[in-house]
Amino acid sequence: MSKKILVLPGDGIGPEIIAEAVKVLEAVRDTHGVDITLEQDDLGGAAYDRYGSPLADETLARARAADAVLLGAVGGPQWDSIDPALRPERGLLKIRSQLGLFANLRPALLYPQLASASSLKPEVVAGLDILIVRELTGGIYFGSPRGNEVRADGKRFAYDTLPYSEDEIARIARVGFEMARVRNGKLCSVDKANVLASSQLWRAVVNEIATDYPDVEVSHMYVDNAAMQLVRAPKQFDVIVTDNMFGDILSDQASMLTGSIGMLPSASLDANNKGMYEPCHGSAPDIAGRGIANPLATILSAAMLLRYSLGRGDAADAIEAAVGKVLDAGLRTADIALPGEKVVGTAEMGDAVVRALKVA
Ligand code: IPM
Ligand code: MG
Repeated sequence: MSKKILVLPGDGIGPEIIAEAVKVLEAVRDTHGVDITLEQDDLGGAAYDRYGSPLADETLARARAADAVLLGAVGGPQWDSIDPALRPERGLLKIRSQLGLFANLRPALLYPQLASASSLKPEVVAGLDILIVRELTGGIYFGSPRGNEVRADGKRFAYDTLPYSEDEIARIARVGFEMARVRNGKLCSVDKANVLASSQLWRAVVNEIATDYPDVEVSHMYVDNAAMQLVRAPKQFDVIVTDNMFGDILSDQASMLTGSIGMLPSASLDANNKGMYEPCHGSAPDIAGRGIANPLATILSAAMLLRYSLGRGDAADAIEAAVGKVLDAGLRTADIALPGEKVVGTAEMGDAVVRALKVA
């Protein structure tokens, strides 16, 4: 039976990079006989403009009915001054939460061809292969109470809440352990247990779950130290499991180790491996519409979609190999080019991946 994929291009460079990932998905229909039907809808600012809401009910219903969702990126300065409850980002947070996508997998993998594009010395990052497992539907992003008010003294006051239940921690910890088990057997849990109550519970629960995974070597690190270790000696990490906000921050940092955030895909999964797939980078409004954005993170997100939600690891491997080949051939978008290297545009890069897939 045909698998349904809902495609949400979003805002900024979203439509441009999604167009290339769609080309690649259409190509694996032919090369690998992957039976997929693609549908398209809006999310974020585009949805606000069309439906008056960053996530329309009908879009959410289509996402629920789909086997997987492929997302570009959301946000842009034109929506900065609208009601905060209707901002593009709220649409993204709502779809994550409503679909129960609690497990966000953000691999930071260095393509050897790009070792010198990293801001760190090639020897520090050569062979880098980290997986950040970020809790995505809890913590300070969703905690209540939250708000802002003007107090009796006339001063403004705002607050957020960082809650975690033991069940929320246990289920993301299990994802971390399962991932470590099929990778290099090391899990580092990142928290701020020297200060935060939620982190103290986090650490305790991770240690309890660890007893089910005696084959995985577990360690704990405070988030400030983890940020430092990521730039000092990043290869010490295999899988990092952490909360929503720490994972947001550390995954941007880890991405730069690989040369460009334009290379990093992500998967957000529910308990049944239904998922939404999106590049780790944002909507880059400054370069939108110019055809220069790097589509590889989105193409690699489509590969993750095939692997995790459609059970087609074969097609995913082929896409990842095709990306390796175009990099071997020296194709570079502006974000991963060294001074003097020839630069290709978004569509040229997507076309090259499709060609590499077809000759494989
Ligand atoms: C991310 C983004 C989002 C987040 C924003 C756009 C709400 O930074 O996916 O990392 O903070 O989760
Ligand atoms: Mg982020």
